[in-house]
Amino acid sequence: MSTQLDTAPAPIAATLDSVAAPRSVFRTKLGFVLAAAGSAVGLGNVWRFPYFAATYGGGTFLFAYLLIAFVFGLTIMVTEIAIGRATGSSPLAAFGKISPKFKFVGVLALAVPAIIFPYYSVIGGWVGRYAFSFLTGGGAAAAEAGYFGSFISGVWSPIFWLAVFIAFCAFFVALGVQKGIEKINLVGMPVFIVMLIALAAYGLTLPGAMDGFLHYVRPDFSELSVNTFIAATRQIFFSLSLSMGVMITYGSYLKKQQSIEKSSLQIAGVDTGVSLVAGALVIPVVVAFMGVEGLGQGAGMLFVTIPQVFALIPGGGFVGALFFTLMFIAAATSGISLMEPTVAALMEKTNWTRKKAALLIAVGSFALAMPTTLGFGVWNHIRIGHLDMLGMMSFLTDTLLMPIVALLTAVMIGWVVGPKVIAAVVTDEGKRFRAEKVYTFVIKWIAPPALVAIFASSLLLAFGVISL
Ligand code: ALA
Repeated sequence: MSTQLDTAPAPIAATLDSVAAPRSVFRTKLGFVLAAAGSAVGLGNVWRFPYFAATYGGGTFLFAYLLIAFVFGLTIMVTEIAIGRATGSSPLAAFGKISPKFKFVGVLALAVPAIIFPYYSVIGGWVGRYAFSFLTGGGAAAAEAGYFGSFISGVWSPIFWLAVFIAFCAFFVALGVQKGIEKINLVGMPVFIVMLIALAAYGLTLPGAMDGFLHYVRPDFSELSVNTFIAATRQIFFSLSLSMGVMITYGSYLKKQQSIEKSSLQIAGVDTGVSLVAGALVIPVVVAFMGVEGLGQGAGMLFVTIPQVFALIPGGGFVGALFFTLMFIAAATSGISLMEPTVAALMEKTNWTRKKAALLIAVGSFALAMPTTLGFGVWNHIRIGHLDMLGMMSFLTDTLLMPIVALLTAVMIGWVVGPKVIAAVVTDEGKRFRAEKVYTFVIKWIAPPALVAIFASSLLLAFGVISL
């Protein structure tokens, strides 16, 4: 087994030399970091993170989350960005270029964003609907009991908003890496982050919010179980856009001059920071207005509880409009990144223009999203076990495909081609790889067994064989 780049299999050496192939690149360093952070920051941070933190023991969950994100998550992120830059390819071709034996992983890695983008767009469409309601003065109606349920169980309105979300994403993907993806993130991300911090600061001044804040940060060790670690790892993969082909694709547009290690740290830092702030916004205001019971609404907090809070506070109509509009942009920057891998793969496989590829993927994703959107209404009776349509899709990606792709990636790098291949890419242009020893240890010894354990226990949990 070779761990030296100069003795690495020919395809790797060849592709490392061909990095400079004419391919779009991010124009600026900040552009790449914000685009990748824009991919990472999305519905997962605001919709699911606060709910997970509230469910899995507050501070205990936060501790597990930070530890896993910055050791494990960062290792996978560096790996994926480096694979992208080394191969200059979409995930479909990238794995085969690193190791021909792992060519098949490309198909699995591409299947993940191809499945996630449609169902993500359904939720993105809901956000669009709420933004529109608040912008047109309908915030109070959106806050009424039953509004959310009756909206999502309808047919045409959610389909219309789904189409709006997909069209929005496709527009920026069609514009290309610099004019579309880089531009929208350069503007949208900073504005979103500033707004979120301002809202959280305001929320904390509300009477009773401090109780919620303490509930959020205080460790509750009685909630600590294997489940805490599984939940944290699943959330980290989703939130950091790992095993979704996204970081490989964005990495393939990364200039050699940019440090992969530093950029990954910044991306993970921004994403984790946003999640922490989102938790500090959502949990305290929910507790302030509804008590701890309000947290039981799960992920629906974003669409049910938060609008009710906006209806109660002075100027809530304006704040709600701002919140949902920026949330729409944050979701779209993730949606754009989930669309890009399949568009890039299609462009590689055919000679199609970016516009044509984006259009085809948009139409295909719209069609694939139908079961999910209708699954909240007319197809609500279709279930596999206890899973509804959205549950099935996320089972396919979160529980099955993503851990498998991550495991195969870790085995390929850790044991087949060797971590030095990644180190060689990270140290391009004389860059330092400060955490190389930790990286090597994690990719070889921590990632494979941890991913097998997570995969096995999530499967057993899903099939009700065990309960943790
Ligand atoms: N990383 C994206 C999110 O958290 C998919 O929403």
